[in-house]
Amino acid sequence: MSISLTRYLVEEQRAKGRIPSELRLLLEVVARACKSISHAVNKGALGSELGDVMGSAGSENVQGEVQKKLDIIANNVLIEANEWGGHLAAMASEEMDSIHVVPNRYPQGEYLLMFDPLDGSSNIEVNVSIGTIFSVLKKVSSNAAVTEQDFLQPGTQQVAAGYCVYGPQTTLVLTVGDGVAMFTLDREQGSFVLTQENVKIPEDTKEFAINMSNMRHWDAPVKRYIDECLAGKEGPRGKDFNMRWIASMVADVHRILTRGGIFMYPWDKREPEKPGKLRLMYEANPMSWLIEQAGGAATNGKQRILELEPTQLHQRVSVILGSKNEVERVTKYHVTP
Ligand code: AHG
Ligand code: MN
Ligand code: MN
Repeated sequence: MSISLTRYLVEEQRAKGRIPSELRLLLEVVARACKSISHAVNKGALGSELGDVMGSAGSENVQGEVQKKLDIIANNVLIEANEWGGHLAAMASEEMDSIHVVPNRYPQGEYLLMFDPLDGSSNIEVNVSIGTIFSVLKKVSSNAAVTEQDFLQPGTQQVAAGYCVYGPQTTLVLTVGDGVAMFTLDREQGSFVLTQENVKIPEDTKEFAINMSNMRHWDAPVKRYIDECLAGKEGPRGKDFNMRWIASMVADVHRILTRGGIFMYPWDKREPEKPGKLRLMYEANPMSWLIEQAGGAATNGKQRILELEPTQLHQRVSVILGSKNEVERVTKYHVTP
């Protein structure tokens, strides 16, 4: 018999007391929003009730990246779905300069939701997998007003994290700190159905994901690691490696959760003052927690990502995550070159 997301959450709560009802509501609302984003993504150039979803919106986000129409639509879907339920205090997103506090007309809850509404949006027009990434924290301060400061908690404090990948299938991947579960969207039923539990990443791999066009800008430890992989059977690793780079972190991480691998978006010399390209709060932290929950590892080359103390909502970070032994190797190359 198939197990719906709702049933999974209820049973997790009953058996392990992990998911208070407010958090369950929050996760169900996020899943509902993802269904609606999935629908818009699927319609593509046909347009949906959410309007024309293709192309540029003619604006830029706080990081100076061009926003696609679908970035903004996905952002609005998540805000509108989540602001009235009474479970949230505030939200933060890649596509909004500052936090979105739940308006006064609605009750305020104790949770904080962060998201990358559409990850990999350069892949929209080319019909390659994209996704939504989310991270949930609890507001710990007793101050009545929510501020950006409330969000600046390390990834170890997350109470739920996940992503939804819009690919050949729409799959929601979730952790509440009790392993990783995957749910596939059944379009006829209109619900997410549990399709894999206790996801585990193999500790070793022969597959790496990195944007090779940046090679000349990499730091020595990253260059060393990739050179050794490229040397194959005859090199120090004694085995051939395969490469994949989808340019959607959700899709690359989904592959790693499915069959192992290592993903790297390291610091490089193109913008030396920035710690990396990816964002800590709504990309690296949720993905790192999922990866760790599946037995993998995630570091910035020196430290565990989940232990980094954030100082800014939109802060960037160098990311190395996936199969444990490979991540440890790259980290070792950084720490003791
Ligand atoms: P976003 O579309 O949310 O800005 O994120 C894109 C990110 C990530 O998903 C992907 O791994 C990386 O950018 C791809 O970057 P390059 O185009 O530099 O390879
Ligand atoms: Mn992204
Ligand atoms: Mn995005």
